[in-house]
This record gives sequence, structure tokens and C-alpha cells, in this order.
Amino acid sequence: MDRTLVEMIAAKRDGSSLAEAEIRRLITSFTEGTLADYQMTAFLMAVFFRGLDDVETAALTDAMLHSGSVLNLDGVLGVKVDKHSTGGVGDKVSICLAPLVAACGVPVPMVSGRGLGHTGGTLDKLEAIPGFRTDLSTQDFARIVRDVGTCMIGQTKDIAPADKRIYALRDVTATVESIPLIVASILSKKLAEGIDGLVLDVKVGKGAFMKDEPRARELATALVRVGTRAGKKVVAVLTRMDAPLGCAIGNANETREALEVLHGGGPSDVVQCTFVLGAEMLVLGGRAKNLAEATGRLKEAIANGSGVRVMERMVEAQGGDASVVADPSKLEIAKETVELRASRSGFIESVDALAVGLTGVAMGAGRTRADQRVDPAVGLAIDVKPGDSVQVGQVLARVFVRTRSAADPLLERLSRAFTYTEAPSLVEPLVIDRLT
Ligand code: URA
Repeated sequence: MDRTLVEMIAAKRDGSSLAEAEIRRLITSFTEGTLADYQMTAFLMAVFFRGLDDVETAALTDAMLHSGSVLNLDGVLGVKVDKHSTGGVGDKVSICLAPLVAACGVPVPMVSGRGLGHTGGTLDKLEAIPGFRTDLSTQDFARIVRDVGTCMIGQTKDIAPADKRIYALRDVTATVESIPLIVASILSKKLAEGIDGLVLDVKVGKGAFMKDEPRARELATALVRVGTRAGKKVVAVLTRMDAPLGCAIGNANETREALEVLHGGGPSDVVQCTFVLGAEMLVLGGRAKNLAEATGRLKEAIANGSGVRVMERMVEAQGGDASVVADPSKLEIAKETVELRASRSGFIESVDALAVGLTGVAMGAGRTRADQRVDPAVGLAIDVKPGDSVQVGQVLARVFVRTRSAADPLLERLSRAFTYTEAPSLVEPLVIDRLT
């Protein structure tokens, strides 16, 4: 005899495993309206305390994935690989990574998100390019991936709609921080892109969703196991997110910095993160035998300009002004610049990514609610890194605002992001580990 929906919720509450078919039935009942929101939240709380094993998590992922449509990229030749980052501050890597990887022959279909809270979003950053559209149809998306090699759009209403509703319930019932629920949420959306492989950048630290390494590692290994069980090639890289990545924070500002990487410049941590993740993508995509060869190819795509050309074609195909790719300084940054200066001499011990990200939100570069608009032109430049020696009065950061008066409360808040030491402290490497 099949268990009823209530019996299934009770079974999970009491710590039993559910069969794959039962998980599917819970999700289809939810999407069809025969399982109420309050029953789903009871189930989510039961999962929060009792967990799900890999078979259950894979079934949940698959059920949420098939609550919508899976993009058909059959017309795109090659092994299609995407990257997903669990989010951080100053993380503009997707914008330079996708064209570079595509230029090396691996198609990159990328469905990205918007910024929320202290973390930024790729869509907001790209929309700082005049005319750039992220709301394309799935047909246009598939055509651009086929013709250009990459395309970056926002989540359509057909992509894992069950996740959207479930996430909204989790958000207001204190059930976001459950590893199997996070895994199913992330993977259901990514697998809907029609990809063959996925590289995950699981960020760890003050500015990340996962604040400590054991939890981040737990999430990364679960993502790899469940993604592999779903038949995809999956690699996860754990990277540090205590300090902002790169120098630029804000939308136009971050897009500029990512474009500089395509031209062979950019801050060394952004370049390193791009190479580390891109190399994994090239290996998964079968375009390089090992990570060293893959890194060499990415460097070549910068040196010979092929990454820039892919970016230009993508921006043009998505309705944007492609001339900003050759000349990133054309992207409008707010005219008033106000400097934050060091209050003492010494060494920078830390630059708190969370505090910097929240300053970005306070100035209008980010949002606290999903329906808010962002100002593409405002932002920050962080001019020092942990470990740097500084003199009193030296510029630590610059704030780009539309009116000078807007800067005062921001500088006060931003100054709290910097701590000093007498002697240089050990600077931890950006990449913590690689998990397969
Ligand atoms: N990001 C997601 O997409 N889902 C989660 O559950 C958490 C972070």
C-alpha cells in the first residue's frame, strides 16, 4: 500500500528514508496543488533535522528539475559545461570565464542570478552594458550558445519552478541552511540548462554563504556526489571569500574589471580564480588533457584576443553595445569619487568581504529585496589586500557615488571592514581544495 503524503512527512520526521517515487510524488503533489505550502514546510523542516541520503537528494533534484523544462541544446556540438559559484563579494569571474572557455572550444550555456543581500549577481553586472538583454527566449539562448559559444541569461519561469516556490518557503521558515535542500536547489536549476558538465566554485569565509570550511566541504562533496549520480561530470573547487575578490565592487565597475581580465590585465586573484575554474571546465569539456595544458590554452585565448572576440559577439547577440568590450572605460561609473584613508600605519590584517558587500548594498549597487532596482554606476574600489603594508593617510578604498553627500555614511561603514596588525600576518591561498 502506498503511503499517503502525510505518512511520508511523518516518516521523514521520524528519520526514515523515503523511496525515490515518494519524493517525486511529494514534489508533483506540491506543484499540482494537492500538497499545501504548510505541508511542504513541515517536510522541509523534517529534512532540515533528519537530512536526506544521496538517493533521496538525487530524486528531489530530478523532481524539481522536471517541474519545469530542460533546455534543449542538442544543436550545440561538444561537451557543454557551466560554472556555478555559491556567491561572494566582487565575484565577477563568470563574465571573463565564459568567453575564454568558449574561445577554447567548450560551449558554456550560463543561466545566472541577480544580486541579493551582500552578494552580487552576474545579471546585474552584465546589464551595466548599455542595451544588454538577459531576458532572452530559450530558443535565442540555444542559438547564441551554438553560434557564439556562450550566452548568459536569467532564470526563465520554466526553469525549475518548484525550486522557486520551495526556496520562498525555506526563506521564511528557517530551512535554507540544509545541505541536501541546497544541493537540490542549485543542481535542479543548473541541470535545466542542458549541460554535460559543471564546475562548482564553493566559496568559504566571511563574505560567503558557507562561513566555515567543514560546512563548505560538506556542501561541495554532496554537490559532486549528487551531480555525478545525475550523470553529469562534476568538479568542485573550494575558494576563500574572506576578503572581496579583486578590487572592483558594483555593477559597471565589476564588469569593467572582468573585461580587463580578457585583455590580459585585472587583479591577480580574479585572474587566478578564472584560470583555476576555466581549466577545470576545459578538462571536463575534453579540450585539454590536464589542468596545466588547459591553463595554457586559456592564456593563449587572452593573448590572441579570441576571448575578447567571443565576448564582443555575445554582447552584440544579446543586444548590447559591443564597443565597451574593446574599451571597458566606456562603461559609466558614478562621477563623484570619495577616498577612504588608513587611520594608522601597519599591515592590513583583513578586509571584511561582508562589510564591503553591505556597503555596496547601502549605496544602491545591490538589493535587500528581490524586487529592488540597482544603480549600475555606483560602486567601490578596494585598493589594498590583506598582507599589504600601509602608511597612515594612504588610500584604502574609493567610493563612486552620484553625489558627494551620499558618501559620508558609507565611509564610516566601510572603514570598519579594515583591520590592521603590526607585523604581516600569513595570507591564506585563494584555492583551498579541489574535490572530484
Ligand atoms: N543558492 C541556491 O540556489 N539555493 C539554495 O538553496 C542556496 C543557495
